[in-house]
Order: sequence, then C-alpha cells, then structure tokens
Amino acid sequence: MTQDRARAAREGETAIETAMRATDVISAYARWAPVYDLVFGLIMESSRRAAVAALKPDTRRVLEVGVGTGISLPDYPSSMRVTGIDLSPDMLAKARERIAAKKLSNVEAILEMDAARLEFADDSFDCAMAMYVMTVVPDPARVMAEMRRIVRPGGRILAVSHFAPEDGLRAKVGGLLSPMGRLLGWNTTIRVSTLAALPGVRLLSNKAAGLGGFYRLLEFEVVK
Ligand SMILES: C[S@@+](CC[C@H](N)C(=O)[O-])C[C@H]1O[C@@H](n2cnc3c(N)ncnc32)[C@H](O)[C@@H]1O
Repeated sequence: MTQDRARAAREGETAIETAMRATDVISAYARWAPVYDLVFGLIMESSRRAAVAALKPDTRRVLEVGVGTGISLPDYPSSMRVTGIDLSPDMLAKARERIAAKKLSNVEAILEMDAARLEFADDSFDCAMAMYVMTVVPDPARVMAEMRRIVRPGGRILAVSHFAPEDGLRAKVGGLLSPMGRLLGWNTTIRVSTLAALPGVRLLSNKAAGLGGFYRLLEFEVVK
C-alpha cells in the first residue's frame, strides 16, 4: 500500500484518485456483467475473432488485458497459454464460469489486476491483447507502456477498439455510432496516431475490424 501510494505520487496522482477511478470501473461493470455478452457479444464478435486470428502462429504466452467475461477465450488456439486480467470481479466471475463450462485448459490464470499496473515480470509474454480496453482506461499511454514492458522484444501488442477518427468521413460515422460507446464509457478522443507515436512500439498494421472500419485492429511490434 505504501509502495502504491509512493508510485502514484511520483506519477502526479494521489492513491485516492486511483482508487476512486478503479471503484467507478468496478461498479459500472458490476452492472454490465450479467448482460454484457448479450448486449455486446455479437456486435463485436468479428473484430474479436480478427484479433485472435492475427496472433502469430509461434505465439505461446498471451496476456489478455481487460479480459472481461472471457468472451474471446474460446477463440484462442489450444497451443497458446492465455492469462486474463481485469479490474472487475463481476466480469471475471463470468470468465471463470465460461472457462469451467467450456473446459478451457489453455487458460493459465484469470486475475484481478489493473492494466496500468501489471504484476508480471518484464518480457514474460509473447503478446499482449487489448480488446475494447484502450478507450476505457484513463491513461492509455500508461497501459501501452505496461503491455510493452511485459512483452518480450519482437513480440506483439494487438489492440481492437473504436479510435478517434483522423479524417472527416469516419468522423461522421463515429458520430452516428457514438451512443453505443457512451454506454460503455468509451473515451472517443484517442487517436491511432497518438498510440503509434509512443516510445518502444512500432505500428505494423491498422486494419478495419468490423462495422465497416468503425472498429480498428492495430498490431504493434515491441521494440527494446
Ligand atoms: C468494454 S469491456 C471489454 C471486455 C472484453 N475485452 C471484450 O472484448 O468484450 C472493458 C473491460 O475493461 C475492464 N477494465 C477497465 N479498466 C481497466 C483497468 N484499468 N484494468 C483492467 N481492466 C480494466 C473492464 O472491467 C471491462 O471488463
């Protein structure tokens, strides 16, 4: 606790502010957990599948950040070992139910953890996956830095989300669909170019991943 407070102070944020934001996420997703798959399952299914399909075949250990109800866990090939983390105990309870019901033997662990403070050693995963997470965290740059830290050099970070449009046409489409994003508290101001400019990552591709390109799948290589 003392260490957490010292770290938060170094980062210009009080431990109380950090705890309050976590509490907001936990209470919001406690309400969503019972109906999440029903409301957001189908509409984001193709983009989640595209993200898993983009994993390099030699990938062994994957960290899924903000794994939620574990809706994508059945999609991972059995050759990969997957760890899921999330702040919401209610979403994670659904993920554990799914793992048991589907007997998913390639899930290594499901842990309550903040994506901005990953409790894993440096270079311990081949890939970090973030599906519909970068737009719900208060500090996406911090989460990218953490994912980069725990992925080995040459490994990948895959991120699916709706990002802020960089051109007029997508801005219009984004405007039409933004009420759905508001339901989940999405931050609609995060641009792909901002993430791509972060140190230690190289944007390899930025592909349409559902709803006519409204959702994007970003693939980054970790450079160390
Ligand atoms: C929109 S849901 C996406 C869930 C899942 N990845 C999917 O594709 O449906 C966002 C998830 O991120 C989690 N989350 C939000 N902030 C987080 C944080 N700082 N650390 C870890 N998980 C977080 C929420 O609890 C929620 O489960």
